[in-house]
This record gives sequence, C-alpha cells and structure tokens, in this order.
Amino acid sequence: MQRLKDKVAIITGSTSGMGRDTAYVFAEEGAKVVVCGRNEERAREVVENIKANGGEAIYVIADMTDLDQVCTIFDKTIEAYGTVDILFNNAGLLSLTPSPDITMEEWDRVMTCDVTAALVLAQKVYPIMKEKGSGSIINTSSVAGISARYGPVAYCTAKHAMNGLTAALAREMGPEVRCNAIAPGAIITAMLDSVGGTEALAPMIASSPLNRAGSGREIGTVALFLATEDSSYITGQVIRVDGGVDA
Ligand SMILES: NC(=O)c1ccc[n+]([C@@H]2O[C@H](COP(=O)([O-])OP(=O)(O)OC[C@H]3O[C@@H](n4cnc5c(N)ncnc54)[C@H](OP(=O)(O)O)[C@@H]3O)[C@@H](O)[C@H]2O)c1
Repeated sequence: MQRLKDKVAIITGSTSGMGRDTAYVFAEEGAKVVVCGRNEERAREVVENIKANGGEAIYVIADMTDLDQVCTIFDKTIEAYGTVDILFNNAGLLSLTPSPDITMEEWDRVMTCDVTAALVLAQKVYPIMKEKGSGSIINTSSVAGISARYGPVAYCTAKHAMNGLTAALAREMGPEVRCNAIAPGAIITAMLDSVGGTEALAPMIASSPLNRAGSGREIGTVALFLATEDSSYITGQVIRVDGGVDA
C-alpha cells in the first residue's frame, strides 16, 4: 500500500541512522523524499538507493547549525516539487559536555541544530500546509527529553525544548497542521556507536522489558504513522519509542 503517494516529505538528518531508514520507509510508501545532511556522498547514496527501488528523492546539503543553509532545504524542496506535506525535524547534534564545562559556542551549536532549525523549517512549511488544509510535522526528541539521566546539559535541554516546541507548534499551527514528536531510546545508529554502542548503554537497555536496542526502521514506521491520516486525531504528543526503558 502506498500510504504517502505523491506526498512530499522533508527529512532532516537523513544521510544516516533513523532518518535514512525513515527516508526508505517513506519512499516505499510513495513519498517524494528530500534527503538532508552535510555529507554529500551519503546523501547521494540514499537518493540512489531510493531511485533504484522505484522511488523519488532529491538531496539538499545543509549544515543545520547555519540557519541560512537550513532555509535552502525549503527553497530547494519547493524548486523541485512545488509543495511540501511532511516535515520530519530529525537532525541532531549530540553534545557530551556537562554543565560546568560547556562553552556558549557548543551550547549555541546544539540549540541551533536540535531546536531552532526545527522552528525555522516549521515556519517555512506552515503557510503551504495551512493553505492545503493539512500537514504533519514530526520532531525527533529523545529519552534525554524525558529524563536528565540520558544526556548531558545541552542535549538534555535541547530535547526537552523539542517537546515544548512540539506542543507549541501543535497549538499554534492547528487545525491544519499536526505536530508530534518521537522520543527514541537506544537505537542502533552511528550516534549510538559514538557513545560506545549497546555495551555502553547496557543498563538502559536492560531496563527495557524488550531487553534490546531498537532499529532505525522501528522509528521510521512510527514516523510513517504520524505522517499519515492513521494518526489524524493525534497532535502535540511526544511518543516514546524506547522499548519501555525506565525514564
Ligand atoms: N541513536 C539513538 O539512540 C538516539 C536516541 C535518541 C534520540 N536520537 C536522535 O535521533 C536523531 C537522529 O540520530 P541518529 O541516531 O540517527 O544518528 P546518526 O546516524 O548519527 O544521524 C544523524 C543525522 O543528523 C545529521 N546531522 C548531524 N549534525 C548535523 C548538522 N550540523 N547539520 C546537518 N545535519 C546534521 C547527520 O547528517 P550528516 O552527518 O550528513 O551531516 C545524520 O544524517 C537525532 O536527533 C538524535 O538526537 C538518537
């Protein structure tokens, strides 16, 4: 079934990890996907894989810490497809520096990439979605947006802010636009590898009744649900996709 036939979906942070897996899920469901990230080689590969499977996609190279570059994601989407139906604000910059040591430069980079860029893109897509009478914005939060035990200060604050942004966008952009967040737990991606993989997160994973880490595709299928009319009465929610870990 092509549940996203002819829909245009921007997915930030889709050159890797759960964003890439979501790009594949959305493309399989008929969406025209805008793949985003900084790494052109990986972006091109994702687009080629989508096209090889009969799907449609373009890529836009943009650093989410630079808001002018963030705007080019919207501009190039409109240039290529003329509209947008789904915005998945998924790009995330992990910061491991605790509060006594973090510099304002690092703090600002995390906030810009993980929160402000999501607002900027939401502002860009809103007039189009409002005019069409429908649209879905999905934000990637984290278990670190639920509990401080899962992330140092900037990341924890950014992901908590993502939950607030989700609630505010749902309130202010409804009834045409729905906005929800996904809060992943330990998902097997490059980001998880960068903090020591499943071994480093063993206590967290052991607290899950499912006793395992999740896959990017298990995020992609939830994003698909939130992108389609299957979730038409859900807005402003943060949906934990974390295997039920303690938080
Ligand atoms: N993996 C987990 O266990 C976990 C848990 C909770 C939440 N999350 C969240 O899930 C989201 C996706 O992470 P992931 O685990 O899939 O990690 P990942 O495989 O490392 O992917 C991160 C994505 O974000 C992009 N990105 C990072 N910094 C960027 C920047 N400055 N400008 C543009 N793009 C940038 C990367 O693209 P380029 O490298 O091409 O720039 C990549 O496509 C993030 O928001 C993360 O915080 C992950």
